[in-house]
Amino acid sequence: MRLRSAFALLLAACLLATTVLAQKPAAPAVPKPPTSDDCLACHGDPSATGANGRSIAVSADKFGDSIHGQSGLACVGCHADLAKTTDFPHAEKLAPVSCATCHDGPAAKYDTSVHAQARRASPTSVAAACKDCHGTHDIRPASDPDSPTHHLNLPATCGRCHGNADIIRRGRIAIGDVVTEFQDSIHGQALSKSGLMVAPDCKDCHHAHDIRRKSDPASPVFRTTVPATCGKCHEGVERRYLTGVHGEALGKGRPDAPVCVTCHTAHRIQRTEGATWKAQVLAECGSCHPESIRTYRDTFHGQETQLGFLRVAACADCHGAHDIFAKSDVRSTVSPARLVSTCRKCHAGANDSFVKYDPHADRRNYARDPWLFYASKFMEALLIGVFAFFGIHTTLWASRAVKPGETRSSRPDDGPRSEE
Ligand code: HEC
Ligand code: HEC
Ligand code: HEC
Ligand code: HEC
Ligand code: HEC
Ligand code: HEC
Ligand code: HEC
Ligand code: HEC
Ligand code: HEC
Ligand code: HEC
Ligand code: HEC
Repeated sequence: MRLRSAFALLLAACLLATTVLAQKPAAPAVPKPPTSDDCLACHGDPSATGANGRSIAVSADKFGDSIHGQSGLACVGCHADLAKTTDFPHAEKLAPVSCATCHDGPAAKYDTSVHAQARRASPTSVAAACKDCHGTHDIRPASDPDSPTHHLNLPATCGRCHGNADIIRRGRIAIGDVVTEFQDSIHGQALSKSGLMVAPDCKDCHHAHDIRRKSDPASPVFRTTVPATCGKCHEGVERRYLTGVHGEALGKGRPDAPVCVTCHTAHRIQRTEGATWKAQVLAECGSCHPESIRTYRDTFHGQETQLGFLRVAACADCHGAHDIFAKSDVRSTVSPARLVSTCRKCHAGANDSFVKYDPHADRRNYARDPWLFYASKFMEALLIGVFAFFGIHTTLWASRAVKPGETRSSRPDDGPRSEE
């Protein structure tokens, strides 16, 4: 019984103690974090400057319109080292803002990028950090037309560095100004002039956060990944390319197989009707198929294109552009079964005998065409013979003509006589 009452007493004492403790005001122990208004009391003044004269003004309106202002984030959400500060003014130097505390997904991707690598390697690097692409107090989602990451604005955002000669030099960006090139390309024009949301901006080919060098196999612009990157939009072309000889050679790991950008370039992509581009791609085919372009140059089509007339047949007009096959393959546009219809695209009257004309006739190749070989040899011999004969003739005549005292003009009876 004594034990029981002692226990009850102890219990009552405990209860009393807890109640008293609970009633103690908590406020002084955990200070309330400063609100944005607290900060804006000083920073809201547009003329506010720090010790070294730099502006420390923050526009309350711009911040209010930003995604963070809109979602009720306070200044100390980002300037976290001031979250427990009560006495102002605060320390002069504050910790840099870490966006990663709330956005770990994009931050983890960014950490693998060439930009993050460059910044880790050198604290003075001019490579992009979060705020270079997103801003600081005026951050908006990419869907907002005023955001620097909006589809139509991104080329200019990357262009602040990749189109800036000074940063290209300081950041040692080997490829140079790609942004001016891109703006003039079919894709750049589609964005800036036609406002085409389905045309690619930089991130569609490079990603937004995990941007890597083209030599990095994980990059979307790594050589063997390029067809898939372009193929996100040009799926039909990618599929044709992959079935053709070039796609097949790429699949086999051949380092000399062309990918989309070998023929089209990466940032200077043009509409494929233009004469300049046609001439360029012809030269490009020739850089890997030197024999074919040499023999082509000897033919009517080749000579015309060399003069700049591109209405005649260039390589792709006969072979196709993406689904190119060896001539022995029945799918080839130059296979015996399909050749007539290929020439008929331009020569309406083409028939079996017309296509006997060899578009790669090679006068140096006996095996390919003995007639042409001998005809060409005969023509060469004739040409040399004619030149040799007239060369000797002229030399002999000239030596006779300059003999002193025997020139026609030195004779007294030379020249036209007057009638008087
Ligand atoms: C009493 C005025 C005052 C208040 C209130 C105030 N600041 Fe400041 N703040 C300053 C001054 C002055 C500087 C400039 C310090 C310097 O460069 O000498 C400054 C600088 C800063 C900087 C730049 C620091 C750096 O490392 O360059 C940040 C960020 C900042 N304040 C954030 C805040 C935030 C967030 C709040 C609210 C929690 C806040 N301030 C409240 C006066 C104030
Ligand atoms: C989304 C995060 C974020 C929020 C929210 C935020 N800031 Fe900042 N603030 C930054 C970043 C990023 C910088 C650039 C310096 C750095 O990287 O640390 C910066 C810099 C500053 C500076 C230094 C001057 C300057 O403009 O570079 C001041 C002052 C400042 N902030 C005040 C404020 C005030 C006041 C608020 C609230 C109204 C606020 N910040 C809210 C991210 C933020
Ligand atoms: C604040 C400046 C800045 C911005 C903005 C910027 N970059 Fe960069 N970028 C750099 C610098 C500097 C390098 C060179 C880093 C190095 O190699 O050390 C670089 C490197 C690159 C590389 C690798 C190039 C190489 O030479 O290996 C690519 C690709 C790239 N950036 C794409 C982009 C894209 C796409 C955007 C826009 C979404 C962008 N960058 C925005 C500064 C910037
Ligand atoms: C080189 C430019 C660039 C840099 C640097 C960059 N971003 Fe982005 N970020 C973008 C672009 C472009 C988008 C829009 C992506 C889209 O529309 O698919 C984006 C989207 C976002 C989004 C919204 C979509 C999402 O993926 O959740 C967040 C959040 C974000 N970035 C945070 C960050 C943070 C945090 C950092 C720094 C660690 C950072 N970004 C660095 C360009 C950049
Ligand atoms: C304290 C947490 C916090 C910090 C720190 C923070 N953000 Fe945010 N951020 C948010 C919230 C909350 C949203 C709005 C909700 C959402 O849409 O994800 C947001 C939205 C965004 C968006 C738009 C996302 C979208 O859906 O398109 C971007 C971009 C962004 N933040 C970038 C940044 C950058 C860059 C920094 C660093 C300068 C930063 N944030 C720092 C919390 C934060
Ligand atoms: C249609 C796809 C596409 C678009 C859009 C695009 N690029 Fe590229 N970019 C590439 C490809 C592919 C390469 C690799 C080129 C090569 O292999 O010669 C490349 C290379 C680069 C490089 C050099 C990378 C290295 O490692 O050397 C930089 C920097 C770059 N691009 C920046 C940009 C910027 C900035 C934009 C936006 C203005 C942009 N690119 C738009 C496809 C694209
Ligand atoms: C061997 C060079 C070469 C390669 C590799 C190549 N193209 Fe082409 N591409 C051409 C030529 C030549 C044309 C013009 C065809 C014509 O005039 O009929 C063309 C045309 C196009 C067109 C316009 C539509 C059309 O067919 O006329 C698109 C789009 C295109 N290419 C995208 C791509 C993509 C995407 C890839 C990679 C999957 C690629 N190209 C690979 C040479 C090439
Ligand atoms: C985000 C989608 C997208 C990606 C990725 C893309 N393109 Fe395009 N491309 C387009 C659109 C849309 C057009 C049509 C623009 C127009 O007609 O104004 C176009 C046009 C073209 C043309 C001109 C076609 C013609 O009619 O002559 C070529 C060539 C081309 N792209 C090649 C490429 C190559 C090569 C790549 C990869 C390095 C690529 N594209 C990546 C969307 C894309
Ligand atoms: C970057 C080098 C490169 C470029 C540019 C290139 N090719 Fe090829 N081409 C190849 C390779 C590699 C093969 C596969 C040869 C093999 O299998 O032995 C090939 C095969 C062919 C074949 C099949 C005949 C054969 O020898 O197997 C034809 C036809 C052909 N290419 C035509 C073209 C045309 C037309 C163009 C321009 C529109 C072009 N090529 C541009 C590298 C190239
Ligand atoms: C007027 C149509 C025509 C033009 C233009 C043309 N070709 Fe051909 N090409 C043919 C025909 C037909 C054959 C098959 C003839 C043969 O070798 O028996 C052929 C054969 C080839 C072959 C060998 C194919 C194989 O399977 O062995 C290659 C490679 C080739 N062409 C590349 C080119 C290149 C590169 C160009 C541009 C410089 C070009 N061609 C221009 C019609 C053309
Ligand atoms: C893209 C269109 C085009 C294609 C395809 C084409 N040609 Fe031609 N070809 C021309 C043009 C244009 C001329 C110049 C005609 C003229 O000036 O009368 C020409 C001229 C010729 C000539 C010399 C002039 C003549 O009319 O006799 C021959 C031979 C010829 N082509 C054969 C072929 C053969 C064989 C093929 C198929 C393997 C072919 N061409 C495919 C456009 C083409």
